[in-house]
Amino acid sequence: MNVKELRCEYKKNPVGIDVLIPRFGWILDSDLRNVMQTAYLIQVSKDDAGFTYPFWDSGRVNSDNSVHAEYGGPVLLPRTRYYFRVKVWDNHRFESEWSEPAFWETGILNAWEWSAWFITPEVEIDSSKPAPCPALRKEFNVAGEIKSARVYATGLGLYELRINGEKADDQLLTPGWTSYNKRLQYQTYDVTLKLKNGNNAVGVLLGDGWYKGNLGWVHQKNVYGTRVCILMQLHIKYTDGTEQVVVSDNTWKSSTSPILMSEIYHGEIYDSRLEMSGWDEANFDDSGWGGVKELDVPKNILVAQENVPIRKIEEIKPVSIFKTPAGETVIDMGQNMVGWLRFRVSGPEGSKVVLKHFEVMNKEGNVYTENLRSARQTMEYILKGAGEETFEPHFTFQGFRYVKVEEYPGELSPDNFTGIVLHSDMDHIGRFECSNELLNKLQHNILWGLKGNFIDVPTDCPQRDERLGWTGDAQVFIRTACFNMNTVPFFEKWLRDLKADQLKNGGVPWVIPHVLNEDHHSSSGWGDAAVICPWTIYLCCGDERVLREQYDSMKSWVEYIRGQAENGLIWNTGFHFGDWLALDAKEGIRVGDSLGLDEKEGNYFGATPNDFISTAFYAYSTGLLARTTKVLKKSEDEKTYSRLHDDIVKAFREEFFTITGRLAVTTQTAYVLALMFDLVEKKHRKRTVDALVKNIEENNLHLTTGFLGAPYLCHVLSQNGRPDTAYKLLIQTDYPSWLYQVAKGATTVWEHWDGIKPDGSFWSPDMNSFNHYAYGAIGDWMYRVVAGLDTDEEKPGYKHAVIKPQPGGQLQFACAELKSMYGVIKSAWRIEADTMVINLTIPHNTTAAVTLPGAKIESLMENDSPIGSTDLFPRCRETGEGVVIELFSGVYTFTYKFKIFIPQQSCKQ
Ligand code: BGC
Repeated sequence: MNVKELRCEYKKNPVGIDVLIPRFGWILDSDLRNVMQTAYLIQVSKDDAGFTYPFWDSGRVNSDNSVHAEYGGPVLLPRTRYYFRVKVWDNHRFESEWSEPAFWETGILNAWEWSAWFITPEVEIDSSKPAPCPALRKEFNVAGEIKSARVYATGLGLYELRINGEKADDQLLTPGWTSYNKRLQYQTYDVTLKLKNGNNAVGVLLGDGWYKGNLGWVHQKNVYGTRVCILMQLHIKYTDGTEQVVVSDNTWKSSTSPILMSEIYHGEIYDSRLEMSGWDEANFDDSGWGGVKELDVPKNILVAQENVPIRKIEEIKPVSIFKTPAGETVIDMGQNMVGWLRFRVSGPEGSKVVLKHFEVMNKEGNVYTENLRSARQTMEYILKGAGEETFEPHFTFQGFRYVKVEEYPGELSPDNFTGIVLHSDMDHIGRFECSNELLNKLQHNILWGLKGNFIDVPTDCPQRDERLGWTGDAQVFIRTACFNMNTVPFFEKWLRDLKADQLKNGGVPWVIPHVLNEDHHSSSGWGDAAVICPWTIYLCCGDERVLREQYDSMKSWVEYIRGQAENGLIWNTGFHFGDWLALDAKEGIRVGDSLGLDEKEGNYFGATPNDFISTAFYAYSTGLLARTTKVLKKSEDEKTYSRLHDDIVKAFREEFFTITGRLAVTTQTAYVLALMFDLVEKKHRKRTVDALVKNIEENNLHLTTGFLGAPYLCHVLSQNGRPDTAYKLLIQTDYPSWLYQVAKGATTVWEHWDGIKPDGSFWSPDMNSFNHYAYGAIGDWMYRVVAGLDTDEEKPGYKHAVIKPQPGGQLQFACAELKSMYGVIKSAWRIEADTMVINLTIPHNTTAAVTLPGAKIESLMENDSPIGSTDLFPRCRETGEGVVIELFSGVYTFTYKFKIFIPQQSCKQ
């Protein structure tokens, strides 16, 4: 048995973190079955080689915790690398060898350690007009043998840091996006190998980014401030024990750069004729450059990078270059992607490359850009005329599948273009596959929606003039996101911003970071992100710290609602987005001024009344808060919120059910929310499920749900004995359905069920994104129900998994794999003639309750042996649903005779 894959705060060898009590995780590796850790030992050392005099030795800790083991040693020093190693004991009385050491490195830790200044070019600028991006530089001398060198840097706006002519590392769009005036992340760069003896130079490019560039659909500018700036502190440690510190201060020089414009939404204009060769290297003549001045920015808002950085994750090549009927030249990347195009070009000095990025072709096969609204998404590059030139932009990203080539000198060849896909560099941990190719494409589209909308904050869309951290979208998609990528550092950071931006009265802004008007807050189903997101992270990763950190925020959201609700129970006040984009309201309802949008015809809010949705979500969030109080052992609050939850449920029933159990609101979403949030009395459940199924059947097996109903629709059906109807909806290919858009050639998930209507026309261009992840929330059902991988709230993070595949939808096989914090957990089933084969992997140090659907003990074999003949499965019983077995860790293959399985019509208890 070995210990492998050591992590610190979910990351492998993180450099520059300021968590004072870091947590460690590791994976047990063994060929045996039933391996459980019984104890662990962690050693921490400031010297990797020996661990001879450990800085901290945990002693043998009798515990089965292998994912969030806390550091318990002396106070950590700033800017210090700590190595750690782990050894464990298991239930077979094995003692592992020591693991390979891993490390983490602390950041600056104390605000007073910053001696650098925030500096900006000294020239006065008119911040209302576009201006070229500034460049700043500084030379410094290195004398001695370097042991290590680190840069700690951040900025207001976006910055690119360069050392001796090269980018400091591969992080992009630094410092990311936080609620800048309250929390500003700094990055740490290991530049040991980038420095040389003698003269060195540091260069910085600055862009407007989210800080002061265009943000939102009302074209705000300078949202956080008017001046971009940089803060940089370089610590060089020499082998003789001395240290040199180079900081940003008034000795730096500034100039303008060849980047004439760079905006998140609009793209970039770059004039390569203005390049200053060697500006970021030593011995450059900067006598013509101007000075810099200090900006007064508090240092106590600085936090070390919390999220994983944005990086270039993959490259794709165009699938074709073609001419449209209207005569436009278009590059097709074959995939709706987010990032930019790297291109090569040769041409005369002053000639241009102009590229406009967009998502879809119109009905006639011509370029369609109206849905981008005011986002220009255009890259303009002016050639210097020096042979082959290669370009990539700096402070922008585009959402696109197609690129209209407006200008390009010379012959166009796909070889000269490469799509650079960027997103937050999360570990890709999930895989889902099945025998229905359209569903596999849907999974592909969900994954690409995740990639393109996880650029430091969870955004609604990546292409139009919006790209904001919409809370509602994030809460509906978070569970699916957690199945596909490790999103914990990503969401932990975003939730801290949510908490920072939350109103004093507990209201939650529509978008986080909060960049809209003051009164744009607290829509039901949106503000509930404050409770649903931390709870989901807890379920998926067993992370209690996130609950502890967010507890006050969760509680104050519930208290906010209580303050708004009639008698503290029925929430019937305020503006709400309702069941956003549902199909059951009449077209023609106006969006109105409250959104700051032009009034346009169209149905946005769905037909489910606001007080119904708001009270249902109020009950749900209060219920989750009550469950959180239990985890955190807050017994007084547990009593308060359990009681409040019961009272809301009672009031909901009185308000929305007749005494004989008819639900007064008859939309699909109403049935779904009432069932999903346990608002239906047990005796009325069947009636409510039947009414939902009838509604679906009356719609010819189609959904009509919007953002809030759609994610739960199939769950409600499968939890209440109707997986058959859930599958019918899932594999439906006519409009409206998940597969309608797939059949229409979508490569990401659309914002609207009818983004492109069956006749080829578009939904109104005022809000029609083709890369919105909200409806991708069905991914959760595919992992959790089709393949059957679920968590157990009592032992979250898959410490005890609940595996219950529910075959259906004429699928011959389905397989899901998830790299949990304990290791890979897998559930795969396939039907071969009259036999069911189920392959399972249960990671070590975990157990699972498995339901083998439709199995009978008498015909059940595991690895070719009848299970009745072994004592390996003592806890195994037959139920109406099949055989339920409690499994220990290991790899298993079960086979049994299988008739197409129709579960008993039982409602969730
Ligand atoms: C966004 C949504 C968001 C909504 C609010 C839209 O503009 O794209 O996804 O949740 O506004 O209803």
